[in-house]
Amino acid sequence: MRIYRTKDYDEMSRKLANILSAQLIQKPDCVLGLATGSTPVGAYRLLVERYESKDLDFSAATTVNLDEYRGLSPENEQSYAYFMNDKLFGHVNLKKERTHLPDGTEKDARKACEDYDRIIRDTGGIDLQLLGLGHDGHIGFNEPGTYFETKTHLVDLTEETIRANKRFFASEEEVPRQAYTMGIQTILSSGRILLAVSGKDKAAVLKEALFGPVTPQLPASVLQLHPNVTVVADEAALSECTGEL
Ligand code: F6R
Repeated sequence: MRIYRTKDYDEMSRKLANILSAQLIQKPDCVLGLATGSTPVGAYRLLVERYESKDLDFSAATTVNLDEYRGLSPENEQSYAYFMNDKLFGHVNLKKERTHLPDGTEKDARKACEDYDRIIRDTGGIDLQLLGLGHDGHIGFNEPGTYFETKTHLVDLTEETIRANKRFFASEEEVPRQAYTMGIQTILSSGRILLAVSGKDKAAVLKEALFGPVTPQLPASVLQLHPNVTVVADEAALSECTGEL
């Protein structure tokens, strides 16, 4: 595992954008696994700038996102599909048909999950998967207690995740209670994993994830078992890892 410590969020975003850009340049037809949330927003902005200055070309790339709320359509401003269009897809030359998220409008959960697993399989495999870290140690929407063997599945979001995500909604009541998420087994089958973490509020969980026991109670701890993980975290997020680094 390689850990890059950055001064702050902006430097973290530049590092993430550099790694994602290098992946695209080395393998233009790569499969990028992407995340939503606050953490990658700065990196996505930089990728758009690099596309606009003609330093990046997304035309041959494929993307698969980690998750989507159940019940939200891509037109819903709170959906992850909308978020990705707004932050990245709508501003670069990715082919729309090569950008994928679980179908939040599919009511048949089993079908939604099987369809998404097939989509991921048909890409030939994820080259680089970007992950954020939840305060409870979740990756994607794989909450504490999730079996490591999971593929795409339907999850009931924990109260903590609902509270953390309410900042994107008008009220806590509007936050969907369920989501479809890529499973841990699928995340682990990516060629490379890029974990991005920012802020003091993630310091304790980041230390546990990187250096504590590997346990389903802290899903991100499973990343210790992957042979090619890069962590990009700012000083605040790494502030509890003083003895370990
Ligand atoms: C997002 C996702 C989540 C977030 C995590 C951190 O697609 O799967 O696991 O990465 O909740 O969210 P932020 O970045 O908002 O702190």
